[in-house]
Amino acid sequence: MTYLGRILFLSILLVFFVKQSEAVCGYESCPETKANMVNIHLVPHSHNDVGWLKTVDQSYYGYKNKIHHAGVQYILDSVVSQLLQDPNRRFIQVETAFFAKWWNVQSETMKKVVTKLVNEGRFEFTGGAWSMNDEADVNYQGVIDQFTVGLKFLNETFGSCGRPRVGWQIDTFGHSREQAAIFAHMGYDGQFFSRMDHNDKDTRMNDLTMEMIWDASESMSGVSLFSGMLYNFYSDTRAFASTYFALMSPLSMVTAKK
Ligand SMILES: *[C@@H]1O[C@H](CO)[C@@H](O)[C@H](O)[C@H]1NC(C)=O
Repeated sequence: MTYLGRILFLSILLVFFVKQSEAVCGYESCPETKANMVNIHLVPHSHNDVGWLKTVDQSYYGYKNKIHHAGVQYILDSVVSQLLQDPNRRFIQVETAFFAKWWNVQSETMKKVVTKLVNEGRFEFTGGAWSMNDEADVNYQGVIDQFTVGLKFLNETFGSCGRPRVGWQIDTFGHSREQAAIFAHMGYDGQFFSRMDHNDKDTRMNDLTMEMIWDASESMSGVSLFSGMLYNFYSDTRAFASTYFALMSPLSMVTAKK
């Protein structure tokens, strides 16, 4: 960082600390919506495979970028500085393996800044397990263990504001009812995913059933979980218009049906 850059960053930090706020985390921290309007919330999310084409360390440090352009530490650095520039900005962090690796090398000042962002619901955890586990090939014990590791870190670091409310299973190849049941048992309010069979997706887009309450257990009653499927895969918004239309098309179908 240049000298001027540092001064700018420190000034932002100062303003940030001086500003007193009674902010809360969780659902109460959502921006106010306007009545009689379609309110669109754009929330960037992390999606960092804990092991894919590169090792976890290569992905974190940004090594061997010819294999895959990924350096997770830089994502977290830039996310925090962007959040500080505008209180309306939000970010959701999914994989605690990477977050913990980053957190452990931050200064005390940076830890305070991030804790404040978490307490204000501006930096929020979804999923929150050590990684985003596969659902097809795993045993439920592995799922519970890796959630335990991630959630324990978040609780010990941030307390209740670090508690994820929704599952974020956007890149697993298929979905199991057991995973939904585990989320429900762990007290999550819902989950989102995006990979699904294209016939199923087409049908759901037509029937307006991309959101559902999943009856998640064969053997126990009352184990249900809100499950929503992302309309536009998990891609970034290459143009705002593409997201806009992805969001609008089911709504216009509702209008057309009326
Ligand atoms: C979270 O941490 C607190 C304080 O260490 C502890 O009392 C509490 O039991 C933890 N919650 C869970 C769900 O482990």
